[in-house]
Amino acid sequence: MPLWAARFSKETDATVNDFNSSIAFDSRLYAQDIRGSMAHARMLARQGIITGADAGAIIDGLDGILADIERGALVFDPAAEDIHMFIEQELTARIGDAGKRLHTARSRNDQVAVDIRLYLNDALEALLAQIEGFIAVICTQAEAHCDTIMSGYTHLQRAQPIVFGHHLMAYAFMLLRDRERLVEARRRMMRQNPLGSGALAGTTYPIDRHFTSAALGFDGPAPNSLDGVSDRDFCLEIASALAILMTHLSRFSEEIILWCSWEFKYIELDDAFATGSSIMPQKKNPDIAELVRGKTGRVSGNLVALLTVMKGLPLAYNKDMQEDKEAVFDSLDTVKMCLAAFTPMLETMTVLKDNMRAAAAKGFINATDCADYLVKKGMPFRDAYKITGELVAQCIASAQTLESLPLDAYKAKSGLFDADIYTAISLETCLSTRISYGGPGPDSVRAQVTLAREALAAGDHKNR
Ligand code: ARG
Repeated sequence: MPLWAARFSKETDATVNDFNSSIAFDSRLYAQDIRGSMAHARMLARQGIITGADAGAIIDGLDGILADIERGALVFDPAAEDIHMFIEQELTARIGDAGKRLHTARSRNDQVAVDIRLYLNDALEALLAQIEGFIAVICTQAEAHCDTIMSGYTHLQRAQPIVFGHHLMAYAFMLLRDRERLVEARRRMMRQNPLGSGALAGTTYPIDRHFTSAALGFDGPAPNSLDGVSDRDFCLEIASALAILMTHLSRFSEEIILWCSWEFKYIELDDAFATGSSIMPQKKNPDIAELVRGKTGRVSGNLVALLTVMKGLPLAYNKDMQEDKEAVFDSLDTVKMCLAAFTPMLETMTVLKDNMRAAAAKGFINATDCADYLVKKGMPFRDAYKITGELVAQCIASAQTLESLPLDAYKAKSGLFDADIYTAISLETCLSTRISYGGPGPDSVRAQVTLAREALAAGDHKNR
């Protein structure tokens, strides 16, 4: 019979047992559950609610359980309803009556609320390090390609010249914001400790919530017991930050996929990070990028699932909230897996500079610079725009480029054109003269890399 079955006269139906059980997915909270219980037991003893001897036995017992789980000597019982009951039952089996005193002044409702926070706090520590590693790889590649000319795009049409490093750094800044969002969500999550909220209405025992808060790394106790047990904002915030991060990875993936295609051929993935086809011998597919793009769907889905679970819940705890864990765990696991595959894929890719340069020479991406040339000689921009448009049309009709169009053709459109037009529209000039802050030229990209590296070094997420 479960621990809660004192008033029941029948066994739970087996199907209901399975349906109700969460141990299959909440067993991963074991270390945090034990940490929370130890702090609770210490507090109970300090406050004279249980004896020091009982607290000592509880802590030793929990230490033994932790060690046994970690070395594989204690396996989770699938019949246990959840990790909290499993550990409490195991403790009582090992130490007897003292084990039965652990749950004094506590409910699984505040227990689970504290466990998930502690778990996510630990998991985010590792994930943030992974994100930082990814950003560092982007910076290294960007630095190596701050002179690699490519076309920038709008509407997927060649637009204006940039260097490849500039394109890559756009993702570095997205990921820096993702990191900041997670750091902030983590900080907010660890502000308020739900432990001591009880089932919903606190407790009659003289507990010290400030003690457990400090012991578990929280700033202080949650000020309202109903909110303490019902709040899952931190799950929503983390799921949301992870969904946004995946959206960034998905856009990056989409570009990798395009760049690998024969239509672009801007990059070549390392053989270790691509796959073949079982029927077409020539194929080399960017599966990692496609899977990352595909898995973005489940991470966005997890956010929507969590929002939907929470939206109709009356205060305080409802069993619906057991559904929080699978969604947020899946988002974390998915992002971890995606970054683990994506980072080395990016690190080992070969950039086919000549192909990028050749494509950049095609789409009239220096047309804006041609118009600017006239503007700098005194022509109003709209007139310069019109003349350049006509020159582009002329080039298309005669299969020429702005670079190969004879000077006579230029002069026929405006007397302001001179031989220096050819230097003005060379892609190198177009890039070196784009001096606006945040621009796409080599110096700007070097400055961006420095900025991103400084942000990485400065943002010590361990200092909450
Ligand atoms: N397994 C439960 C959960 O994850 C723990 C809390 C259960 N509380 C309760 N009163 N049934 O939400």
